[in-house]
Amino acid sequence: MADATPDMKDIVALAKRRGFVFPASEIYGGINGFWDFGPLGTALKNRVRDAWWRDMVTCPPIGPDGAPLSIVGLDSAIIQNPKVWEASGHVGGFSDPMRKCPGCGHFVRADHLQSILATDSEWVQELYEILMWKTGFNEVSHDHLRHWAATKGRKSAPNLAIVRNIDSVLSHIPEGRYPEDEWAPGHFKFFQLLATEQPNAPSVTGLQDPCPRCGAPLGGPVETSLMFASHTGVEQNDASKVYLRPETAQGIFINFKNVLDSTRVRVPFGIAQVGKAFRNEVTPRNFIFRGREFEQMEMEWFCHPDDAALWREFWLAERRRWWEALGIRPENLQMREHEKDELSHYAKEGLGTQDVEYRFPFTAPGFGELEGVAHRCAFDLTQHQEHSGTKMEYRDPVTNETYMPHVIEPAAGLTRGVLAVLCDAYTPDPSRPSGVYLNFAPHMAPVTAAVLPLTAKPAHVEPATKLYMALRPRFAAELDVKQNIGKRYARQDEIGTPYCFTVDNDTLSDQTVTVRHRNTMAQERVALDKVPAFLAEKVG
Ligand code: GAP
Repeated sequence: MADATPDMKDIVALAKRRGFVFPASEIYGGINGFWDFGPLGTALKNRVRDAWWRDMVTCPPIGPDGAPLSIVGLDSAIIQNPKVWEASGHVGGFSDPMRKCPGCGHFVRADHLQSILATDSEWVQELYEILMWKTGFNEVSHDHLRHWAATKGRKSAPNLAIVRNIDSVLSHIPEGRYPEDEWAPGHFKFFQLLATEQPNAPSVTGLQDPCPRCGAPLGGPVETSLMFASHTGVEQNDASKVYLRPETAQGIFINFKNVLDSTRVRVPFGIAQVGKAFRNEVTPRNFIFRGREFEQMEMEWFCHPDDAALWREFWLAERRRWWEALGIRPENLQMREHEKDELSHYAKEGLGTQDVEYRFPFTAPGFGELEGVAHRCAFDLTQHQEHSGTKMEYRDPVTNETYMPHVIEPAAGLTRGVLAVLCDAYTPDPSRPSGVYLNFAPHMAPVTAAVLPLTAKPAHVEPATKLYMALRPRFAAELDVKQNIGKRYARQDEIGTPYCFTVDNDTLSDQTVTVRHRNTMAQERVALDKVPAFLAEKVG
């Protein structure tokens, strides 16, 4: 990310304009929480996925003892026997407590209400400003509240009690100074008081929490499942009900024995999987950050319970290092330990969870989750053993000790990772025609090399085509003939191509091409036959 935080609107616009990400079903008005990856987005996503697979499965890290780790791959079904999700705790347990607004139909997560009111609610901000600045510090003036209710309040919170029935509400809010702790926007008391009255009731009915959108008193919390359900077979009833997986992890746990019995791995070892997961998120938002269909890159590391603390430390350091190796700036990454009340059911008994977080434009100056590294203890294997009746314990062939392995789980978002790489690369630069370039690390750029004949004349196009044909088998290369050279450079800047090779008149006489470096726009000459070696050195 450039030093000044870029605007998310600009990133989303570029992603659409250049074919990274499109809204799903766009021609039908879209569908909330779903996105389609365009040609360049798919290429970028594959780069992140392939880097992860290479660094986890093909060439895993070297362990603390100096030997390479043992991690194998898996590709399990998205739909499994529903008992899997009962055992894992997702059926019944994977839900959010939601409150519905009877005024505008908006849903709010009960446990997020206070922070939403404090940070996102337009009418809370407006009232806070009136109370803090219009009247002097922490002071209620009925005149100012009356004026707000009759003007701005009507627009921003039409169902707020103070807007619907000002006299009745003001009779409960004496004029004068109030103690600080009843005012802060995160503090409920005042805003609850403003929302006490049901819209059409003649008098105040008691404290109720207000809707952050329209101010009407919210209904009570109802647990709402995040699992997408469907049916298998012809008859659609409870017996044929199935779920789309909400995480890739369970496919790994249920195959633990299969992998042990069919390969030569021994504890400690890992099983890795990349694939789609589905969650009926109540508030999908921030572009592809929180979607209802997304991809995960998860690895379950099975180890002896006594070694779990050591492996947790290992994977925490390793995973942060890995995101940096993608080219993400270290200052935009941080590690954050989960608070006790954030811990998932499976992590409660363990050593806790730490997230790798990225400073997204919409969280800046704060950070948002990119990956969680959790200690899942023996929770999942034990649950599946109990529910399926299949023994999941491991018998050490050397010591003969039998135990249930503990699991350290680095669980990363692939979709979210693509967003982080895109945001980090987005670099506004008013000095160049495109006004912006994507500063991808050369090995991550969807297009590594663009070959550009200076003109569309055969004298330029023919050698350019020859160079392109030489690069194509080894590098993500593109041959672009159309438009003037300035426009073509601008397009390559916007899609983050690190190197453009231009064939011009000099090429015909000295067999060299111009290489233009994306970030500096500097140009140098390289011999035509040295271009593959030049690129190999840059991208490996
Ligand atoms: N197996 C553990 C697990 O699924 P999680 O923290 O719920 O843990 C892991 O998910 C990662 O998946 C997150 O760190 C995030 O990057 C990604 N992720 C989770 N929900 C997502 C969503 N709705 N949209 C996009 N990515 C999501």
